[in-house]
This record gives sequence, C-alpha cells and structure tokens, in this order.
Amino acid sequence: MEPFINKKYSYPGLFLRTGLLLLSIGLIFGLTGALQYILLGFIKQYISFEKIRPLHVSSVVFWIILGAIGSVLSYVQQHSGKKLHSEILLKIQFYIFCVSIISILISYFFGVFGGREYWEFNPLFALPIGIGWILFIINFVKTLGSFKNQPVYVWMWLTGIVFFLFTFLESYLWLFPYFSDNVVNDMTIQWKSYGSMVGSWNQLIYGSSIFLMAKISGDKSIGYSKISFALYFTGLTNLTFNWGHHIYTLPTHDYIKHISYIISMTELILIGRIIYKWRLTVSEARKHFHIVSFRFLSAADFWVFLTLLLAILMSIPGINVYTHGTHVTVAHTMGATIGINSFLLLAVAFDIFPRNNKYLSLAFWIANISLLIFWISLIIAGIEKAKWQMRAIQSPFSTMMMDIKPYFISFFISGLALIIALTFIILPLFKKENTRK
Ligand code: HEM
Repeated sequence: MEPFINKKYSYPGLFLRTGLLLLSIGLIFGLTGALQYILLGFIKQYISFEKIRPLHVSSVVFWIILGAIGSVLSYVQQHSGKKLHSEILLKIQFYIFCVSIISILISYFFGVFGGREYWEFNPLFALPIGIGWILFIINFVKTLGSFKNQPVYVWMWLTGIVFFLFTFLESYLWLFPYFSDNVVNDMTIQWKSYGSMVGSWNQLIYGSSIFLMAKISGDKSIGYSKISFALYFTGLTNLTFNWGHHIYTLPTHDYIKHISYIISMTELILIGRIIYKWRLTVSEARKHFHIVSFRFLSAADFWVFLTLLLAILMSIPGINVYTHGTHVTVAHTMGATIGINSFLLLAVAFDIFPRNNKYLSLAFWIANISLLIFWISLIIAGIEKAKWQMRAIQSPFSTMMMDIKPYFISFFISGLALIIALTFIILPLFKKENTRK
C-alpha cells in the first residue's frame, strides 16, 4: 500500500494527464455551448450547437474514462506490489485511444456523426476503442495475478472493466435490424446500456476511491468491510437490471423500472455513507498529509447527497413526466459527472501527483460554490421549461427561451467561475514533480 515514488513519467499517469487535457478542452466547448444559450446563433456559421454539444460531452466523457483507466492501473500496481504486466500493451492501448479520440473530435468538427446520443461519432470508431479496452482487461488481470482473498476494490475494478466492454458493445446493438426494427426494444436497450456503462465506470471510480481512502487512513479494513461489499453487490445488481428509471417514459414493464430505481438510489446512499463514515476515522495528521485528496473526497460526498436528492425527486413518475428532456436532466447528469465522478478522480490525481500550493484551497471552494450555482440555475431553467411544456396554451418557444434567459446567464457566469477554478486545480497536476506510480 506504500506508494512507489517515480520521477519518470508513467503510462497510467499519462492516461490521467491526457484525461485532464480532454477535460480542459471539454470545458472550453461547454462554455461556448453555454454562450450559445444566451447569444442565439453565436459563431453558428463556424461551429453550431449541434457540433459543440457532442464535442463537449465526448471530451468530458473521455476524461472520465481515461482518468478511471489511469487510476485503476496505478492502484493495481500499488495494491499488488508488482509492475504492470506489459508496458507495451499499455502503450498500444494509449496510442489507440489517443488516435481514436482525436479522430472523433475532428470528425465532429466536420459534421461527421452517425452514432447516437453521448456516442455521436461514427460507429466505426467504436472498433479501436473496443480493442484498446480488451488490452486494458488483459493488462489488469495479468498484473493482478491472483483473485484469492481480494478486497472489495479489486472486485469493483474487475467488474467495471468487464461490464464496460459488455455494455459498450450492447450500446451498438442498434446496428442490427433485429434490434432497431422495434422502436421500444431499441430505445430500452439503448438507455439501459448507457445507464449500465455509467454504472461500470462508477465501479472503476468507486473502487479507486475506496483504495485511496484505505491508503489515506492507513486502515485496510475498509476494503473488506460489509458496507463496502454491500456497495459492490448493489452496484453489480444495478449493472444487471439497470437504471430503469432512465426509461420511465417508455412503455416497458413497471417492475423493471421500480427494481432498478431502488437499487440505483441505494448505490448512491452507500457510497455517500462510506465516505462519510471514513472521514470521521481519519486522523488529523493523515488528513493533513493528503489534504487535497481528502478535500475532493469530502466534496464528492456532498455532491452524492445533492445528486441523490435530485434523482429521488426526478424519478417520481409524476415529476419525471414534466422534467424529462428539460435542463433538470442536464443538471442531474452534470452534477453527477462533475461533483461525483470528476471530484473523485481529482482526489486520485492529487494522490498520484501530490501537489499543494496557496491557490488550491481557494480554487477548491470557488469550484464547489460555482458548481452549486451552476446546478441550481439549470434546475430552475428546467422547471420553467417543464411548466411551459405543460401549459394548455403555449407561448412561442422563443418567448419561453427569453423568459428563462436570466437562469442561462447565471449558468454561464457560474460556469466560467467553475472553469477558472478548475484551471487553477488542474494546472499544478501538469508540473514536473514527483509521481506516485
Ligand atoms: C467537469 C466538467 C463537466 C462535465 C463532466 C460535464 C458533463 C456534461 C454532460 C455529461 C452533459 C450531457 C448532459 C445531458 O445530456 O443530460 C453536458 C452538457 C452540457 N454542458 Fe457540461 N460538463 C462539464 C462542465 C461544463 C461547463 C463548465 C459548462 C459551461 C460553462 C458546460 C456546459 C454544458 C452545456 C451547454 C451542455 C449541453 C446541454 C444541452 O444539451 O442543452 N459543461 N455536460
């Protein structure tokens, strides 16, 4: 569990840093999209919202995926005390991912799509990503060596890695007419696979977070505790039945929606409780030594609570009918991917690249406060749009957009503050200093 100190760059570290670079690029696209909300038609002739949205979403989703790969590959080495099985395989995986991601982003610029929401790129690009992922599975399993008596985080990593590949392939079943010919089946599989994919990267990130918590507190028991295994099994069930509340509006069986709803809420409650309980056990000295990681873990705990609150409300069928397809859903997605996924990955990044400076604490607080305003602005804009959708006599769409403009302005300003704060957080991670492999 003791860190390897390495002054050379390591490939797992390179995955994390490439992820951070994608996050930075994604933030610029996000800001441009937010500006297009308030200045309709802004730079539309060069790059329209139809291009900006996938550029933003794919960049930040690849940040999460590359960040998760880097975290798992760093920690599996620390856990097993062994070097990676094959640095060559990892290099090949790294270049396959880099070439594919760059090509995907360029293809968006040229308006080449062909995929579906969240994976809007041409399905051909899925092939190298799938192959790269198989290399990741081989490297992980071989580095780990034995499955005997492993702590919960190892099972989480393994499950996340295997299920990601499965759900990634599942999300392309629409390419076969057998699935795409029936709209309800097609949409059900589509949304189920996306939900399960998020569940898979959550397993990778939660596993890395539990490893990190054990490392910070110096107490390995968290990796074997009942509550951690409860989280693992709920996550596993979630991956299987999955996230049916994503398909509320589809006419599929009610029991699927109800079971998966309860399970996915339980998953959030458990991760929230694990971080909360762990925070109470960490000594001041250890907290101080890992202060930046500790702060991001604590912030993620707060965002788990807010996401849970919003998810519970949104998933009440009577409310879901109104909020579906509004900015409430965007608030839910961004709240979770920024506040939970990105903050947990930043906690890991600051463990692998230990840094601290006088601006970090201020940037951390600004990031959290601006994210809160950003999130609330989206929720209010979403509620206003939901009210408009349900009106018996609707005013024109453009009038509704003018009415909610103040919330888009606060979304833009708080988004800008969030980006500035994140820049101060991310930049030190690129400085040439010690790396814990
Ligand atoms: C870590 C940072 C971020 C992550 C992980 C992230 C993630 C996402 C995700 C997953 C979506 C898709 C939402 C959905 O379809 O439900 C999205 C949409 C969007 N994001 Fe972000 N985001 C981040 C930061 C930002 C920032 C700072 C801004 C603006 C200043 C922004 C602006 C947007 C816009 C305009 C959309 C499109 C929403 C729509 O379709 O109308 N994002 N983001």
